[in-house]
Amino acid sequence: MKLRHNPASPYVRKVMVLAHELGLADRIELLSTAVSPVEANPALAAENPLMKIPALTTDDGQVLFDSPVICEYLDSLAGGGRYFPAAGPARWTALRQQALGDGILDALILCRYEVAARPEDKRFAGWTEGQMRKAHQGLAALEQEDLSGPRTIGHVTAGCTLGYLDFRFPDDGWRRRHPKLAEWYRAVEALPSMQATRPPAG
Ligand code: BEZ
Repeated sequence: MKLRHNPASPYVRKVMVLAHELGLADRIELLSTAVSPVEANPALAAENPLMKIPALTTDDGQVLFDSPVICEYLDSLAGGGRYFPAAGPARWTALRQQALGDGILDALILCRYEVAARPEDKRFAGWTEGQMRKAHQGLAALEQEDLSGPRTIGHVTAGCTLGYLDFRFPDDGWRRRHPKLAEWYRAVEALPSMQATRPPAG
């Protein structure tokens, strides 16, 4: 399998954390891919018309995106039902927690692009405030989630979401606002799968 990869992307990290946890990481060739909200990338567009990463080319040549689809595919390769509970309330809880983490990331990345990709004179503070409000409300909801059970895609996503906050928003102060989440993340951060996929410094 080939994965369109960038070590700074938290969605790529989700896929790679899961691949490590399922013992599939060494079956995935990483294709280093630059991403931009404004620049075209024809090679990536040929695989994913949305020009987003991660995109996974399977061994039979199908291209899968986005991270929830790729993660469920990897889970199926490992027998299914490992990180995506098969049916019933546990499945909906895992999918809801994944959607919550992905939604927080969507808001954080829009804030990140506002600073990293938009010229200073075109920035709109109200936009950033609105997105940060969503991210903070999402984190408050994550604090209320029960993350005590067996690890699911919900846990993987929550871990990568908090890792991205530390990476790009180190002054956010989320640990002070959400001590239960901070305590949970202390153990998650130390997992070999999280250590193996740490974003680059800077
Ligand atoms: C980042 O550098 O923060 C980033 C890179 C790729 C995708 C999303 C975020």
